[in-house]
Amino acid sequence: MLIETGLGLLVSSAMLTSIRTNNMPDKKKIEKIFEYTKTWVTTQGNDIKKPQFIREDNITADEKVIGIEYVYRLPLGMPFKKLEYLNENVGVFKDGLHKNVEIDFNEGMMHLNVYEADLPKSWDYVDEKLEGWKVPIGKTYKELIMHDFDSTPHLVGGGTTRYGKTNLVKGIITSLIINHPEDVELYLIDLKSGVEFYRYRNLKQVQMVATNVAETYDLLTEVMLKLEVEKGYYRDNGWSNVIESPIKKRTFVIIDEAGDLVPESFMDKDEKDMHKECQWMLSHIARIGGAFGFRELFFSQYTTADVLPRQIKQNCDAKISFKLQNGYSSEVVLGEGNTQAADLEKIPGRAMFKDGATMHKLQVPRIYDKQMEKLLQDHYVTKRKDITDEQQADGDTNELIQIRDID
Ligand SMILES: Nc1ncnc2c1ncn2[C@@H]1O[C@H](COP(=O)(O)OP(=O)(O)OP(=O)(O)O)[C@@H](O)[C@H]1O
Ligand SMILES: [Mg+2]
Repeated sequence: MLIETGLGLLVSSAMLTSIRTNNMPDKKKIEKIFEYTKTWVTTQGNDIKKPQFIREDNITADEKVIGIEYVYRLPLGMPFKKLEYLNENVGVFKDGLHKNVEIDFNEGMMHLNVYEADLPKSWDYVDEKLEGWKVPIGKTYKELIMHDFDSTPHLVGGGTTRYGKTNLVKGIITSLIINHPEDVELYLIDLKSGVEFYRYRNLKQVQMVATNVAETYDLLTEVMLKLEVEKGYYRDNGWSNVIESPIKKRTFVIIDEAGDLVPESFMDKDEKDMHKECQWMLSHIARIGGAFGFRELFFSQYTTADVLPRQIKQNCDAKISFKLQNGYSSEVVLGEGNTQAADLEKIPGRAMFKDGATMHKLQVPRIYDKQMEKLLQDHYVTKRKDITDEQQADGDTNELIQIRDID
């Protein structure tokens, strides 16, 4: 069998088996893989420049050695595409070394992390104070990976049903509220009739919850209007990006199961138009909103091109995918050539996370509804539409701040 390396060369599985079963040290095996995958640059004089070994270091976690990091200087002039291909084909290193491998690039160096250990099968969400707009995404072999919504404003996510999309979104909502109770605004779209998010409607930070397409249309229209107002305000103050402005507020639009926004052939024209408008508004917010403090989390189990509009994909540099059925679905979420989500183990919470060119395999923290309720208990208020007629008659209607007793 031949394996497409993306480097313009095919590595045979026999070659990889010969490396794997050979008793040479890992460093030698890595160099053999470079050779087979032609990880080099040919200069005009036909000289071959190869990655140059710089050093190896132990990787430790909790004072235990869990693997070795091999650092190589990449040949000058190696095109970015080639680096991406190396990352996409991390499987070639995994097969050759028969160990877990991760690749990072920075400042002309390639860091090949070879682990003896495996990822945890599950770990519980831990409430902690985090700097800026960071949220925990998951544990890799060696560290906890955060996503910073100020460096990368939007996040796209996919994954087969029951592998942990909603759990991740709940963890993110909790972390955002705990760390920014006064500054975060949440617009939640839950097209599973609200079974997951409707219960959060009484959180102070939650502005609206939409549970069907018509409500989603209203919610997105409101966000679009806010975006227009913000744009004018930024222009008047001479700010071009929220990060350079004194504005602390961030507005998150979170959609769980965006597949339900795809117009279907059985729908009448008005219904189709409403679906299309919703998709267009989500694309617009992802494209324009980032600079003005709007953040989008776009999750779906159906990862086809019509569910995940091109505009959204292009404007979301951070992507996460739980287990998917095939390489094609994985590529729709993670980008061309990135089929790794199809090879993930069948473990809920196990995911591939891509931020720019860096790809991590990780285990997302598990958060339980009870735990979340407890962590957020001080943020529940009674909102206007939940106030009874009797209270309204008392002239008590403008107060939104009655603490809800959740015990
Ligand atoms: N990070 C995690 N660690 C351990 N178990 C998890 C994790 N995430 C999810 N699970 C388990 O998987 C179940 C399904 O998770 P979740 O509801 O988040 O999946 P989903 O991808 O949103 O599914 P659907 O597409 O059907 O909405 C959870 O009830 C939990 O038992
Ligand atoms: Mg879900």
